[in-house]
Amino acid sequence: MRKTVPALLWLLGMQAAFGATANPGTPNLGKPAGPADMRRWDIDIGRDGRWLPPGEGTAAQGAPIFAGKCAACHGDGGRGTDLSRKGLPAPPVLVSDMKRKGIDGSTTTIANFWPYAPPLFGYIRAAMPWNEPRSLTDHEVYALTAFILAENKLIDAKQVMNAQTLAKVMMPNRNGFLVRFPEITPR
Ligand code: HEC
Repeated sequence: MRKTVPALLWLLGMQAAFGATANPGTPNLGKPAGPADMRRWDIDIGRDGRWLPPGEGTAAQGAPIFAGKCAACHGDGGRGTDLSRKGLPAPPVLVSDMKRKGIDGSTTTIANFWPYAPPLFGYIRAAMPWNEPRSLTDHEVYALTAFILAENKLIDAKQVMNAQTLAKVMMPNRNGFLVRFPEITPR
């Protein structure tokens, strides 16, 4: 106890000394975030392809990456696992050969539910693989995006996906959504 009190006083003294000089009114932790720090986190992608990074990939390049890093959870070629086939809780099925007209809440897949293609890139880059997000290069993400789109027959299997081509992919259900607040929703 006798030793603790002087140590505490010393700490308070140091805090007062630094606090007075560096950032008054703050606990003086961390450092101010600069533009370079922000860039690492500012990774969203516009639905029209805005902010897509440089890079490119094809379905053929994406297939082996998918087999190695994604199929364990999403099944071979993204077609689901035994769990999803039994209707049990499971990672979503990414590729489906079912009809793509209208929306049935029980059977939403990328092909019938995602109105724009660029956010697919954004989602994979930010969140997948689930157990290791942010571990893929932009080239790998373009290749995986191409693979999923090609498996869903939304693009030609040979098409190269990059910032320009991905923005041009027309998703089948783009105009199938009812806009709840049209006056504040850009079309
Ligand atoms: C450890 C299991 C796991 C792995 C590995 C994994 N995913 Fe996922 N993935 C999930 C889960 C769980 C979800 C649903 C997450 C949610 O809804 O919050 C998901 C969702 C997705 C979605 C959104 C699907 C939709 O219809 O909304 C995409 C696209 C996707 N994953 C792609 C990939 C790709 C590409 C890879 C490989 C790089 C990958 N995933 C690896 C578990 C996994």
